[in-house]
Amino acid sequence: MTSTNHVQAKQELLNDPTANHEHLPILGHAELLDGAQKLVFDTTPEDANTIASIQTIAGTGANHLGALFLAKTIRPRTVWISDPTWINHEEIWKLADPDIKRQKYPYFNKEILDLDFEGAMSTLSSMAGEGDVVILHGCAHNPTGRDFTKEQWRAIASICEQKRLIPFFDLAYQGFATGVWMKMLGP
Ligand SMILES: Cc1ncc(COP(=O)(O)O)c(C=O)c1O
Repeated sequence: MTSTNHVQAKQELLNDPTANHEHLPILGHAELLDGAQKLVFDTTPEDANTIASIQTIAGTGANHLGALFLAKTIRPRTVWISDPTWINHEEIWKLADPDIKRQKYPYFNKEILDLDFEGAMSTLSSMAGEGDVVILHGCAHNPTGRDFTKEQWRAIASICEQKRLIPFFDLAYQGFATGVWMKMLGP
């Protein structure tokens, strides 16, 4: 941007009576939070008291705050992390509380380049215990790019309900990273 454009842009911002130049409130940008809630939970005004939201610095910050919150309140014995997963899940939970055990549940079968849904189900149903946290990638699983089908999500939800596990959805759409990994794996 040339300095003339810079000055002009600044003037336009100053002239706009609707522009808000204040710091954001502690919880973040209210409209962003509403939009995010609507996207994820399809919220109605009646849901307002049942969902709490906070804006964080990127997805890493969201994972960190979520892990810290659960570590300090629920104090799970174990957090279940998909195998494979985004490289930082393990580190973030270790930082939140090193005493919380980090265990893997099978997710991807490298032989057939497909989900290991049975492996995930059998590990979670036989080994996870009440109050454990299960990290689930809501979409665009990193690094495999393979997601559960609706039917499989229902089965995962039932296991969480039956065993009273705490699902932790990490929703991070990473088209680029996922695309690169799939190229490395196969066609
Ligand atoms: C599953 C998952 N969660 C969180 C993140 C972190 O997101 P951000 O780069 O916005 O911190 C990534 C980034 O690749 C990711 O793949």
